Amino acid sequence: MTADIVLRNVTLPTGRRADIVVANGIVRHVGAPVRADETIDCRGHTCLPGAVDMHVHMRGGVQAQKEDWHTGTMSAVAGGVTVVVDQPNTIPPITTPELLRARICEAEEEAVCGFAVNAGVVPDADLTGMWDAGAMAFGETFAAPSSYGEGLDPETLKELLTRIHALGGLVTVHAEEVSDRAPATLAEHDSARSGAGEAQAVRAVSALAPAEIRLHFCHASTAASVRAARGTVEATPHHLFLSHGMFDADDTRARVNPPLRDEETRRELWSCWDRIDVVASDHAPHTLHEKGVPFETAPSGIPGVETMVPLLMAAVRRRRITLISVIEKTSWKPAAILGIQRAGFEPGDRADFALYPDEITRIDASCLHAKCGWSPFEGLEAVFPEEVVVGGARAYTCGDLREARPAWYPGQGYLSLQNK
Ligand code: DOR
Ligand code: ZN
Repeated sequence: MTADIVLRNVTLPTGRRADIVVANGIVRHVGAPVRADETIDCRGHTCLPGAVDMHVHMRGGVQAQKEDWHTGTMSAVAGGVTVVVDQPNTIPPITTPELLRARICEAEEEAVCGFAVNAGVVPDADLTGMWDAGAMAFGETFAAPSSYGEGLDPETLKELLTRIHALGGLVTVHAEEVSDRAPATLAEHDSARSGAGEAQAVRAVSALAPAEIRLHFCHASTAASVRAARGTVEATPHHLFLSHGMFDADDTRARVNPPLRDEETRRELWSCWDRIDVVASDHAPHTLHEKGVPFETAPSGIPGVETMVPLLMAAVRRRRITLISVIEKTSWKPAAILGIQRAGFEPGDRADFALYPDEITRIDASCLHAKCGWSPFEGLEAVFPEEVVVGGARAYTCGDLREARPAWYPGQGYLSLQNK
């Protein structure tokens, strides 16, 4: 057997050392090495399956000043993320198969890693058309208003969820309760979109959704929301690593929906780490210029696709969480929820990997690849990958992109039509 690439001396999550032989983007064999075009020695590094970030806003189009598919996916790869799932609250929002296909074409031309695109959930959206055209999932579905997304009332939401269930689709939900007051500070923003309100909204959506629907809650920011969720639940690095007290009271960069909470709430969220299915970044970049307005009118959203796994890897190095829990929540579980072949260490697995050194460094926004050029995680401990393999090819080595490997991951609606 010849191979495209062999990863030598990989320490598997079980602790066993092995060589991973890759051909045509797939793990062929785990054990002894064979001859290969390229070899990577993994000694001194921890090898993780590539992460699947199931919640990113790659912007582009008329919002390309914030981010585009090239910079956004460069940022992903540099952070060990090899598949991203784009949210449909673009301008215009993705509500028809034509818009979905155009979005996929834009990504095919510019992306440097795997990608999928979700369908927008609004009353007049062509849900069936988008499902057949390859939407990965439906949502994020706004059960409350947010940047570039209007909230749906319970009736409408129930009706849309029933239609998505009939298609066999996965629905992802942004659940919050929002008061009318325009907040002037991060603490007021936290009260205006309270943790208790979020948990209540999660309970309400859980109750009105059809019994067997594939339901996923985005960015739970409190332990109560995690516990209230039916289906699967996601948490973000910003709700795990940041609280609003870490910023000046009116720092618009830290304005995000759901809001950053207080320190006690942040710690409580960690206490239900085991119940969190997925960590996803909700990478939602805005420029510093756009953030440079009074707090009341500043857009919500922060960048984070590149720093997600590095922050978690620093927590692994500090022995706060286990390596296997990070692999589960950033790679295996999201792949399983979405129905994407998993990346990993068994023959037949998708050959997406990232190699992390032992040393902990600190986040320096000037070294990141997102277009917006800033990070709310500046100065926090992190471990960045030195080598990233995407689709069985060496895509990123010590800061340099070597090869762009865009690959579209269609959802189940499209796949079932192909198999007919
Ligand atoms: O803070 C947020 N920003 N929350 C969202 O739900 C949307 C996002 C965005 O697209 O900017
Ligand atoms: Zn959201």
